[in-house]
Amino acid sequence: MKYRKLGKTNLELSEIGYGAWGIGGNQWLGNNDDESLKALRHSFDLGLNFIDTALAYGDGHSERLVGKAVRDSGKEIYIATKIPPKDQVWPASPKTPIDKVFPYKYIIRCTDESLRNLNREQIDLQQFHVWTDAWTQTEEWKRAIEDLKKSGKIRFMGISVSEHGPDTALEALRTNLIDAVQVIYNIFDQSPETNLFPLCQKLNIGVLARVPLDEGGLTGTITPDTQFERSEFRAHYFRGDRKQQVVEHVEALRKDLAGIPGTLPEIALRFCLSHPAVTTVIPGMRRVKTVDSSCRVSDEGRLPSDVLAILKRHAWDRNFYE
Ligand SMILES: NC(=O)c1ccc[n+]([C@@H]2O[C@H](COP(=O)([O-])OP(=O)(O)OC[C@H]3O[C@@H](n4cnc5c(N)ncnc54)[C@H](OP(=O)(O)O)[C@@H]3O)[C@@H](O)[C@H]2O)c1
Repeated sequence: MKYRKLGKTNLELSEIGYGAWGIGGNQWLGNNDDESLKALRHSFDLGLNFIDTALAYGDGHSERLVGKAVRDSGKEIYIATKIPPKDQVWPASPKTPIDKVFPYKYIIRCTDESLRNLNREQIDLQQFHVWTDAWTQTEEWKRAIEDLKKSGKIRFMGISVSEHGPDTALEALRTNLIDAVQVIYNIFDQSPETNLFPLCQKLNIGVLARVPLDEGGLTGTITPDTQFERSEFRAHYFRGDRKQQVVEHVEALRKDLAGIPGTLPEIALRFCLSHPAVTTVIPGMRRVKTVDSSCRVSDEGRLPSDVLAILKRHAWDRNFYE
């Protein structure tokens, strides 16, 4: 496992981080806590030292599992979590005032709740789970971050930007209060390369590349017959003819990648790590097997430029979250 420095912070994060949404359980089904704890432990054994969770993932269940696994390991593992929007609206609307979404007291209260779930004194990276630059010029959120840092409850602050909206927090990044940004970045959505990544490089802000496997689309295992429970997030994401659309895009990708070593998920993760702005890529990994194949990718290094040129052609402009 290789490590990269998170922006201006002193944290050296493993190139492969652990996406802990799936282990929260309510929006992703088909896993159990024993399996999740085993997967987490195995990832630490392979050198992974960074986990991305959120208060909203299973109403704190993901945070509690993460806290337990980290405590039991006795290892130094960095944890990022997130403050959910108070109005429970994803993505943020520029028309909604920030006091309905992130009022000062709520920011502090959610951080305290996450600390209890994680059973920790300090959160390494706290993040706003939604953002719009319509809020950037207001003052209370800035005071909340300063107070959280001063009190030692958090070390660093980040923003998780809207789905397929990498440019919705650029102004906030310029305030000097934000240490990291989390964004969808994968072979299908390469849009952060245009404005967000150059700004992060200029300001030395860390980047967490999320949803690197397109919620499973880039694992190559989705077929028109793949079934999800109705209550699962992915039943919505891959609804209607979307599975067929994914199959067609993946087939075209595979055809262009014929002869290039590595499986599709490995190439998809290496794609993320090939951009110099990216600090860590955080695939969701609920099973030991997926931990194994994802963590291996770090040793393989960046993709050669001819492969990156092929992947550039496979950007796909669509929004399955809607
Ligand atoms: N708004 C936000 O802030 C936000 C939104 C979405 C996601 N996130 C963060 O980003 C993380 C990653 O996104 P995600 O979990 O939604 O989707 P993802 O990483 O794109 O895809 C997860 C899926 O890929 C599979 N997988 C992982 N590694 C694999 C490998 N090496 N080979 C084959 N399959 C592999 C997983 O399998 P198994 O689960 O079966 O192991 C799971 O089904 C989340 O866990 C969360 O931490 C944040």
